[in-house]
Amino acid sequence: KSPGGSISGKSGRTEEKSMAAKNIDWANLGFGYMKTDYRYVSNYKNGSWDQGALTTDDQILLNECACVFQYAQTCFEGLKAYTTEDGHIVTFRPDLNGERMENSAKRLEMPVFPKERFVEAVTKVVEANADYVPPFGSGATLYIRPYMFGSDPVIGVKPASEYQFRTFCTPVGPYFKGGAKPITIRVCDFDRAAPHGTGHVKAGLNYAMSLHAIVDAHQQGYDENMYLDAATRTNVEETGGANFIFVTKDNTVVTPKSDSILPSITRRSILYVAEHYLGLKAEEREVPFEEVKEFAEAGLCGTAAVISPIGKIVDHGNEICLPSGMEKMGPVTQKLYDTLTGIQMGRIEAPQGWIHVI
Ligand code: PLP
Ligand code: COI
Repeated sequence: KSPGGSISGKSGRTEEKSMAAKNIDWANLGFGYMKTDYRYVSNYKNGSWDQGALTTDDQILLNECACVFQYAQTCFEGLKAYTTEDGHIVTFRPDLNGERMENSAKRLEMPVFPKERFVEAVTKVVEANADYVPPFGSGATLYIRPYMFGSDPVIGVKPASEYQFRTFCTPVGPYFKGGAKPITIRVCDFDRAAPHGTGHVKAGLNYAMSLHAIVDAHQQGYDENMYLDAATRTNVEETGGANFIFVTKDNTVVTPKSDSILPSITRRSILYVAEHYLGLKAEEREVPFEEVKEFAEAGLCGTAAVISPIGKIVDHGNEICLPSGMEKMGPVTQKLYDTLTGIQMGRIEAPQGWIHVI
């Protein structure tokens, strides 16, 4: 079961020299998968992880009864690599993704892949695929997808005893087609996560159950779903793939607090940026849906979404039009966006430990 075509370290970087050789139209990339040259694989068997290696093999061969196929025992992460203005390749707070994946694994009865090894795997994959890291200012980034799954056959409902951890990467453009254009979302009648469920971890199952809701939202002409808390349906939770940020009329940045939303690294970073870089008040607290009509600005935040402004929220035919409008981001959202991406791309000095140079 060991991966074929393994290499280690930085070999491969010299084989394909320049970004131009890849002939990628960076400016017109969507958020999609493109096969890159190397991915990292580590297997767990007999109670321990092997040492792991890079491989060129993008295929996975598994038994038909692998736990991941039957009982969805899988979790994942998402982070990005950037080219800075001065030409370095960096990732943003990868230790927090590693920590979150540890928590996801524990909740799903999977063995922990240690966060230090997670960062090492991410580093190796980005290094080996350096030619795919979009240039500074191109508008594109390299999206990195670490994930793990139960790989041996399981038919009674129980955890697998063998696992695979993998990390691949793919260059991406904006998650929403219009880039920074405000989106329209709807309040969703389906729930995303139950109290005491798995909403706070990055389990594949959370996304499987959101697929019907997002397909339906798109069919109805909406870009995303706003999920409310499942117990009372009165508080704002998050979307299928991002947390919310709101800005009050007196410029306080507000983000929903809930045990059943994913603790977004982007959101945590935005709160810090709001307070420490922009001198704004920032609050993490319950956000009653009733309050949404009072906000001046709204947006989604996440690795894929970055900060995507919301222009309109539709609740069963009732429209809430954010004063910031449908043409551009509101002024506070714009400042948060500029500062956060400035930090990520090395234009603005980062807090200690946020930038991991590859
Ligand atoms: N919420 C959900 C459900 C997500 O899938 C994501 C994406 O990772 C986020 C929030 C944002 O998290 P982060 O900022 O760590 O990417
Ligand atoms: C991310 O932002 O990294 C995510 O995992 C969201 C996903 C829906 C693309």
